[in-house]
Amino acid sequence: MALLFSSKNDDPDEWRAALAKELPDLDFRVWTPDGKGGDDPADIEYALVWGPEKGALKAFPNLKAIFSLGAGVNHLMDGRDLPPGVPVVRLVDPEMTRGMSEYVAYWVLHYHRLFGDYARIVENKGWDRLAQTGAQDRRVGIMGLGVMGLDAVERLRPFGFDVRGWSRSEKALEGVTTFHGTEGLTPFLERTEILVCLLPLTPETAGIINAGAISQLPKGAVVINAARGGHVVDEDLIEALDGGHLSAATLDVFHTEPLPDDHPFWAHPKITVTPHMASLTVPATAAKAVAENIRRMEKGEPPEPIVEMTLGY
Ligand code: NDP
Ligand code: OXD
Repeated sequence: MALLFSSKNDDPDEWRAALAKELPDLDFRVWTPDGKGGDDPADIEYALVWGPEKGALKAFPNLKAIFSLGAGVNHLMDGRDLPPGVPVVRLVDPEMTRGMSEYVAYWVLHYHRLFGDYARIVENKGWDRLAQTGAQDRRVGIMGLGVMGLDAVERLRPFGFDVRGWSRSEKALEGVTTFHGTEGLTPFLERTEILVCLLPLTPETAGIINAGAISQLPKGAVVINAARGGHVVDEDLIEALDGGHLSAATLDVFHTEPLPDDHPFWAHPKITVTPHMASLTVPATAAKAVAENIRRMEKGEPPEPIVEMTLGY
């Protein structure tokens, strides 16, 4: 049983070691442009990849599944020319999900309790105390109620926030006001003071945080984008911050990564940049999820979750 590993961002040695603990018999091979993963392409049954070269995976006639090295799969969608009929499987690692919720909770609390304002006050040895809003009166809106979004909702609720969520299909969640579809977007945005984007990047969600959407948020709202840079129209975000409609933004993901040195986000006083670290793929835990899917497939069961290619997530 051979697995092909291909990524410019992830360390093959860490993955080899982590998978060896789970599946000692796995033949772990690393893709190279010349060697392509060993002598016989027919050996490869599984691929574990981030942004594989266009068409590269078509070289393996016995490929049974393509595992994403991340929760997001847009790196596999943008014209990668994948072998038809081979399931693409997202990474769902509870530790990764927890990491994302930590990121979301940290920034929601930061904006809710005005820690940015307090940092500026005490910088000048100030002692002003600002009006404190109760969590029950703080409207937090989560875009995307999938693995990450649902966990974030569950972890924010104990603070008492007024949490709302928006998804593609209708959802009923106890204690959470939910909206769905294009028609649900405006009512969702209109009452969201802290907007958290946890959507997959698809043709439908690209550029969703644009001037029109931002203008529907209440004045003074903040944006936290931990999903993909392509969700945000950068110029529109900057204009809304400069014009005062938005009060701040925290951005973890960008159209180009690393964020180019001359990008205006770096120096913008109302923007906090983090280097796509909201939740990293940690081989020690993520390998358990990949291994479990391989075990399932070896028993004839389908891996999960399989990406719906027509939807792009
Ligand atoms: P899921 O696929 O589990 O969830 C996606 C959610 O988005 C679902 O609720 C889905 O709706 C909703 N959605 C999809 N398309 C639309 C649409 N057109 N309109 C409204 N809602 C839509 O993904 P995850 O929660 O696992 O991950 C979300 C994203 O987080 C990833 O795609 C990735 O880009 C990003 N990510 C970022 C990381 C970082 O470090 N910055 C780390 C990990 C992930 P429905 O429920 O109806 O299907
Ligand atoms: C992911 C990511 O999709 O790290 O997992 O962005």
